[in-house]
Amino acid sequence: MIIAIDGPAASGKGTIARRLAAHYRLAHLDTGLLYRATAASLLQADKGLGDVAAAVAAARGLGLVEFDEEQLRGAGMGEAASVVAAMPEVRAALIQAQRDFASRPRGAVLDGRDIGTVICPNADVKIFVTASPAARAQRRALELMRRGEKIDYASVLADIARRDARDAERADAPMRAAGDALTLDTTRLDIDASLARAIAIVESRVIT
Ligand code: DC
Repeated sequence: MIIAIDGPAASGKGTIARRLAAHYRLAHLDTGLLYRATAASLLQADKGLGDVAAAVAAARGLGLVEFDEEQLRGAGMGEAASVVAAMPEVRAALIQAQRDFASRPRGAVLDGRDIGTVICPNADVKIFVTASPAARAQRRALELMRRGEKIDYASVLADIARRDARDAERADAPMRAAGDALTLDTTRLDIDASLARAIAIVESRVIT
């Protein structure tokens, strides 16, 4: 069974994907980490974020480099990832690895922005996870504070709006719900309630 989870930053999609994978004992790939690692590798090599050739080389060489997940999940890296993710050449370099991951015999859960539309258009279940920008900014601010980063709510909200716009308006594989995706709005749901809804969606789509 392949489960595709898409949605904007801090919608809860990553946690839902991880917990769905544990529930169904499936492998899980957070595809945002691929773009974050590409951006981190570019910055480590002192290249500008606009350097397409260097970004493609970084994306292709990802398996060779070790990254600290804590560093990748920092606020600045999400923004940098969104910039390199708008380059069609970078996306092309990362497609096959994602499809290979999804094609393991028991299936997998993948989360990102284009899983249901581009990476796994034939996924058994597609969920588009969303929440209001204010709710997402609150969650992201809390998460960054726990991580020890200095933040202010207004700039977190502005960052989220900017990233949403870039991810949704790029020409190649923009963030959007696939036509056959079900939307899960987590604005008023905690993680347990969100997971319960996600499981209900999976059960409604898959004959077990
Ligand atoms: O899910 P995330 O916040 O870790 O993703 C970071 C950035 O990577 C996001 O702003 C856009 C990009 N991304 C993408 O374009 N396609 C994906 N499948 C996953 C992430």
